[in-house]
Amino acid sequence: MNLVFTEEQKMMQKMVRDFAQKEIAPAIEHMEETEEFPRHLITKMAELGLMGIPIPEEYGGAGMDFTSYIIAINELSKVSATIGVILSVHTSVGTNPILYFGNEEQKRKYIPKLASGEYLGAFGLTEPSSGSDAASLKTRAVKKGDHYILNGSKIFITNAGEADVYIVFASTAPDKGSYGISAFIVDKDTPGFSVGKKEKKMGLNGSNTCEIVFEDARVPAENLLGKEGEGFKIAMGNLDVGRIGIAAQSLGIAEAALEFATNYAKERKQFGKPIGANQGLGFKLADMATEVEAAKLLTYRAADLKTNNLSCGKEASMAKLFASETAMKSAIEAVQVYGGYGYTKEYPVERLFRDAKVCQIYEGTSEIQRMVVSKHLLG
Ligand code: CAA
Repeated sequence: MNLVFTEEQKMMQKMVRDFAQKEIAPAIEHMEETEEFPRHLITKMAELGLMGIPIPEEYGGAGMDFTSYIIAINELSKVSATIGVILSVHTSVGTNPILYFGNEEQKRKYIPKLASGEYLGAFGLTEPSSGSDAASLKTRAVKKGDHYILNGSKIFITNAGEADVYIVFASTAPDKGSYGISAFIVDKDTPGFSVGKKEKKMGLNGSNTCEIVFEDARVPAENLLGKEGEGFKIAMGNLDVGRIGIAAQSLGIAEAALEFATNYAKERKQFGKPIGANQGLGFKLADMATEVEAAKLLTYRAADLKTNNLSCGKEASMAKLFASETAMKSAIEAVQVYGGYGYTKEYPVERLFRDAKVCQIYEGTSEIQRMVVSKHLLG
């Protein structure tokens, strides 16, 4: 694996870094205070071509490699993990399922609008009683003529309420367990579909997390993604890739925590010298930097496999597990380095602390990543 980025990848990194500093950083305070979805930033990202980075040009995307997309999530998340997750969910699990499993008609109808940012994508798998045990979902889809009638609800759906298209999983044959699950493309204006309660979260302020509800929702039969019963494999296959995006988001948080903590340790003086001159703090920073580097290697290794169309499920889970644990640890340590100031909202490290936590939970908890990795090892 070559960890030296190509010229094209370096250009992507610089463009996104500049955009994040110039446009996103000044918007953070407003998102933190109001929890308002940053629509104006998504519009600007669309203008920059960021909403379809790894989507082939023939479907209106930038046609860049998967690693370039991961670089973008990483750079955005160094400044705002909120923007990182909006883009990751939109691309990895909101758009890619149609690209990988859709028929030509579905691809032509939806992907150009998603890749250009005209549409925002979302992914509806989790339910009130089905989280880690995704195969136990209860939402039902019954075929009636040329429609499927969906009933049920999904919770914790990122981008819900702002998204135009949802990839939704429902059972067409409950007696068949995971083999009875099917995937559907659901337009936001589908009769019987509605957006429910918006969650008030610990962090990621500005990213929408809502319930979505299906009450005799009429989804055209042509919106079935893949075949009936293929839904679970579609969900799992896309999460394999999606988890690299969350690893990159986690890496961004960890890198930001390390940078803030290092700068503060150089500036802050106690007992007549910078606090970083104390071995207790110097070693803390050394451990943080080592773990951040390891998270980076795992994340870009998984991305490189995907870029080369090689199987990446185990490596994606390893990267997501290690990078999210590193994000949390780094954020905790950064707050410790800042001392009392770190506990206030005046300084950015408390936001990193709150944003890091969910990375150990969504797109599969750390415990689920360990299950996936151990299944790969043991069969
Ligand atoms: N790719 C393709 N097929 C897969 C697969 C994969 N990665 N993983 C499993 N499958 C297939 C299996 O091969 C099996 O089929 P066969 O019998 O034909 O081989 C079938 O699916 C069932 O597999 P398992 O028996 O392994 O399934 P399980 O019920 O034990 O569950 C699990 C496995 C890994 C725990 C899974 O339920 C899981 O990933 N849970 C976590 C759910 C999750 O990540 N949710 C995230 C929600 S989205 C989100 O969070 C987005 C956001 O907001 C940021």
